[in-house]
Amino acid sequence: MEYFEWNSSLSVHDALIDEDHKILIGMVNELHDAADLGKDYITLSRILERLAAYTREHFQREEDLMQAIAYARFKSHKEQHRKLLERVSDLQQELNRAREMVALDTAELLRFWLTSHILLSDKHLADTLHGTLLNSETERISATDS
Ligand SMILES: [Fe+2]
Repeated sequence: MEYFEWNSSLSVHDALIDEDHKILIGMVNELHDAADLGKDYITLSRILERLAAYTREHFQREEDLMQAIAYARFKSHKEQHRKLLERVSDLQQELNRAREMVALDTAELLRFWLTSHILLSDKHLADTLHGTLLNSETERISATDS
């Protein structure tokens, strides 16, 4: 049993966003397992650096999608992303001061944060995204018909 399991209840029904989330969850597991095995802070810092970089890329991809559809919740969703990155950056600095225990706290924070963010915010975004795509498709079809 993995520390953080992806399951269908976490699916937002968007293949690209789901794939990103699975990769992030895999990296949270990697961080947790390395911390659990008592790896040194340099090893843990490297894992966390990759995880933070992928998180930034993923957030940017979501934000680009939001802008493309003029998403009404863009500001608040982006603000959730910004706050998380700020916390992760603080934890990275802590970890770089040879405080290995911070890695487990970080894995715990990310497991909790990602689960609630996916369910509360990303699902809404994906639903809106697909609703919007469907509507523009419908408009295009009816425009062709007339
Ligand atoms: Fe998000």
